[in-house]
Amino acid sequence: PDENRRDFLILATTAVGVVGTGMALWPFVDSMNASKDVLALASVEVSLSNIPVGQAIKVMWRGKPVFIRHRTEREIKEADDVALNELVDPQTDDARVEKKEWLILVGVCTHLGCIPMGTATGETRGDYDGWYCPCHGSHYDTSGRIRKGPAPLNLEVPTYSFLTDTSVKIG
Ligand code: FES
Repeated sequence: PDENRRDFLILATTAVGVVGTGMALWPFVDSMNASKDVLALASVEVSLSNIPVGQAIKVMWRGKPVFIRHRTEREIKEADDVALNELVDPQTDDARVEKKEWLILVGVCTHLGCIPMGTATGETRGDYDGWYCPCHGSHYDTSGRIRKGPAPLNLEVPTYSFLTDTSVKIG
């Protein structure tokens, strides 16, 4: 009887382990339908210290590109100077950033999911100085808001938090 009891305990423990993992992974699987190695990157920490003002980088987060732009004063002013009634998807710049100098966006066009251009230095940034999606011509501004073209919504702002002045955790 003791033998059997031990087997039962081992089985029970294993079952709990499996259920636990399943539940932890569920929200991610549900939201992005990603492979296992992507799931391992549920959040990423990014150092911002090597991004000069006026430049942007692209990092991968949960299998999607995330754009991080160190905005210039001019870019911040452009984002602030737009009246909400000019916007397709009205959102203030303040509602889209935690710190004005750092714009953080999911780099997936809200039309049909292409990756907009404008992150790498020298790439076209479209008519509104932000990003340009070459698939069907959507133009995003310096806050990542849709301004022209078929995309219906602004570029998504991911969940993030600053760990220090020069590092941020995405996710
Ligand atoms: Fe970007 Fe169509 S996917 S404009």
